Formats: sequence, structure tokens, C-alpha cells
Amino acid sequence: MVFAVPTQTTTPLEPIGFSVPSKEYLVNMYVGKKLRDARTPRLVVDRAVVKRNCEKIAAVSSKSGKKIRVHIKTHKTIEATEIQLDSAKTDAIVVSTLAEAYYVINSHLVSSGKLKDVLFGFPVSPDRFDDIYHLSQKVEKFCIFIDHDQTLDALETYCEEKFGGKPPRKINVYMKVECGNGRAGAAINNDASVNLAKRLVSSPLLNVVGLYTHAGHSYASRDRDGAVNFLKSERDAALDYKKFLADNGVQFDNISIGATPTVMAAGLVDSTELEGITELHAGSFVLNDRQQLATQLLDESGLAVTVLCRVASRYPERGSLLMDGGALGFSKDAAPQGGFGTIVGEPKWKLDKLAQEHSIVTEVPIEDFQRVNVGDVFRVVPNHCCLTAACYEFFLIIEDNGDEIVDVWVPVRGW
Ligand SMILES: Cc1ncc(COP(=O)(O)O)c(C=O)c1O
Repeated sequence: MVFAVPTQTTTPLEPIGFSVPSKEYLVNMYVGKKLRDARTPRLVVDRAVVKRNCEKIAAVSSKSGKKIRVHIKTHKTIEATEIQLDSAKTDAIVVSTLAEAYYVINSHLVSSGKLKDVLFGFPVSPDRFDDIYHLSQKVEKFCIFIDHDQTLDALETYCEEKFGGKPPRKINVYMKVECGNGRAGAAINNDASVNLAKRLVSSPLLNVVGLYTHAGHSYASRDRDGAVNFLKSERDAALDYKKFLADNGVQFDNISIGATPTVMAAGLVDSTELEGITELHAGSFVLNDRQQLATQLLDESGLAVTVLCRVASRYPERGSLLMDGGALGFSKDAAPQGGFGTIVGEPKWKLDKLAQEHSIVTEVPIEDFQRVNVGDVFRVVPNHCCLTAACYEFFLIIEDNGDEIVDVWVPVRGW
């Protein structure tokens, strides 16, 4: 089938330069100050906890004997990516946006040899092929997801039109398959996906790396056994599919599975349970949040992220405080614990209502109003670190739960 290639869209990172705020300016402005002296709301990241979280993942990697691929969408920064690569002992990442890809590929991480393998972890649409070919020349290995025939149709037409059928290099591809998450991925065990798999492995345009599943549904784990069950069912879905394809004459070598709960579970099982799996991937483990706490695979010492909020008004008559933040400072993602966040040091208070910029704290005991005043600051653990971090144009960095700002990290936003 000849599939018309749409106009190519661009990530406005090159050649004009993507406008991220100046780190230098922000470092001058904030480093050395106390958190309470910063404008709120603001995302606060504890660098020491980030490092320890990455070391835990490195321990899973060495116990299981599997390579780790770390997702950077959680923070979208060069600094946290570097800690992930160093401390999780890997050279492979996943990105969710091409802006993330450009940001890290253009940084010192590639030139220093720390970052070698970048996967665009979102099924690529045909308007982005220009960027894909551009990026694939800038890093040792650049991979994409394909989970539908039409993407391959469009790639073939694009290569014909653009390169006379002979592109400068093969594009590395993971076939993304669905394992119960119901998000992206080809349906397994049906004729359409066998046909796609056959086309992928025989395409002269591609180098097929393997199969990729993402067990996002494992966030429903509520204890270690639950997470191990999700891990086993993800493993079985991937291995059964590999066998099904092999029985149909299509050979895939590598299998990458994961999500933070299933990768944490991989550290709990014997390495023989992961035979046939070649790679584990995870992202949220870097910062963690209330959703991850609810899986009971970590305790509060693994929480690297909080939102710094300030009391803007107080209503003792209704046991309520008004803080800044709101839906634009937290996102409206839910967590099994209910509400939108846990206020550090104040277990009785509830953050159970958000308007655009308003955070409404309720159930504040009357005696607490004797010590809490307008202007006080609090740190709040958010429900979902990835979405909350994405609300901020820069992060204040602390070390080991200190209250002094030691660095500022600037994420890349946009697509
Ligand atoms: C393709 C892909 N791989 C890996 C991950 C990492 O998952 P988690 O953040 O649960 O560790 C995600 C997260 O959404 C993803 O979309």
C-alpha cells in the first residue's frame, strides 16, 4: 500500500534553539537560599534520594542480570538523566517526546560517551520522520516504536521520496506490544500483528531490536506479591508472544519489559524467573510519589519530590487553609490514598480539593491554627511525580532533606 507522507512537523529545538530558562541565571538567583525564600508553588527535588533510587535500580539490574533502560520523562532534565545513567549503571534511556530526545542528545551526555542508546517510547507518527532521521545521526543508537502497519507504509513512502529508497542508515525499531495496559501496542496473537512483525523483520529500512511491553497497569499493585504477579504476567505475555511469532516464522531476539512496580518486583524474584527477558525499563522510580507508595514497594525514604506551597489564607471556622499550587501545581491525577497530596509533617490535614491555582486543605484541627499563619510554607508529596514535575519550568534541588537550595534543574517542555 502506498501511504501518503504528511507534511513534516518539527520540534522547535533545532536550528533555532529551544527556549528553556537559563540555568545559570536561576542558579545565581536561588543557590544558597532557603526553600522558604523561594516563590511558590515550586517543585523541590532531593538529589541524594534520586541517587539512592537509581542505585536501587542498579541493584535490581545486577541481581537479575538484565540491562536497565531508564525513562527520563519523569523529570526531563539533563542532570537527573546523568544521575540515572551513572547510578543505575546504564547507557540506555527512553524519552516520551522528541524535545526530550534533542535536549539530552545535544548535551554533554552523548559527547562524554555516557548516553549511547535512546528510544523514542511513543509510537511514531509519520509527520516526525525528518526528526527521527536527524536524531538517528546524532547518537550511537536511536530507536523508535512501530505498532501499526500504516506507520511502516508511511516510512516506506517517506524513504522512497526522500532518499530514493536508500536512507542514510537503518532505523532501530522495537515492536511495541500490548500486555494488559490497554494503552499503546499491537494486539498480540492475531493475524494483523503477525503480518506487521513479518514486515518489520524483513524491511531493508529497519533494524529490529525486539519486542517491548509496558506494564502501566501494575500501578494497581498493593503489595509485593501483587507486583510480582504483574511482573510474571507481563513476562509471560511477552515470552508467549515471542514464541507465537517464532511458530509463525518470525524471530525476535530481545524482549524489554517493565514499569516501576514490575521492575521493583524483578528485584524480589529469583533471576531464573526472568529467563528470556533481555532488558528492564522504568522511570517513575527516580522521583516516586503517592501512587508508588501505594504499591508498598518503597517507603517514604524513597520520595525524592515534593511541592513547596505557601499558606495564602486561613479559615479556622471551617478547619481549612488555602495554599497556592492548585491543579496547575499538582495536576489532577488521583492516588489510592485519596486527595491530591500528603502534607509533610501534618498527617491529619487533607489536601482534598484543587482549583486552578488554589489548594484547599481541610480537616485542620482548631489547635493547629495557633501555630500556622499566612505565609508559612509546607512541602506536599504529590500523587504522580511525572505529571506534577511537568507543571514546572524549573526545579529547586536540595540534598538529604535539607532546606537549602543547592542547584536548579531546568526540564525541557513541549513536544
Ligand atoms: C514506553 C514506556 N516505557 C517505560 C515507562 C516507565 O514506566 P514507569 O514510569 O512506570 O516506570 C513508561 C511510562 O509511562 C513508558 O511509557
